[in-house]
Amino acid sequence: MGEPLLRQVGAPVERFDAELTALVADMNDTMRALNGAGLAAPQIGVSLRVVIFEVNSNPRYPDVSPIPYTVLVNPQLTPLGDDQEEGWEGCLSVPGLRGLVPRFRSLRYRGYDLEGTPIDRTVEGFHARVVQHEVDHLDGILYPQRMRDLRNFGFEEALRGQMRPMPD
Ligand code: NI
Repeated sequence: MGEPLLRQVGAPVERFDAELTALVADMNDTMRALNGAGLAAPQIGVSLRVVIFEVNSNPRYPDVSPIPYTVLVNPQLTPLGDDQEEGWEGCLSVPGLRGLVPRFRSLRYRGYDLEGTPIDRTVEGFHARVVQHEVDHLDGILYPQRMRDLRNFGFEEALRGQMRPMPD
């Protein structure tokens, strides 16, 4: 947080080529090394509209359903209804901190996978939250900017026991 690149709007991907494959491989390595649920290209210094995410079933997060590993290029989000819900989020670009963030409960997302094949999914709950968080990175937005009450923002250590745990 504070890096100018994280405040920029990323450029659309124009070619599904070896360079894109290499970028996504780097993103995947980074996400796994840091145990994240998702990562956006600007977080590793590349201002392109590419995000990845994956959530495996984890006994530490019994409320969270698994999300298949997804590479989403040039994503477009369409919220389904006005319903929002608040949930705790973390971010690999804001390490050690957590905040309570409102997100649309349900949405449709479209985009392309690594080969350029269209993706079109309707999701809700934590899956919808992860996608909104990651796609915000492509528009230069970090989750603290979405918070309604900064009293619900703090160090993970201090918040332990006060929040329902969620993966990063
Ligand atoms: Ni993030």
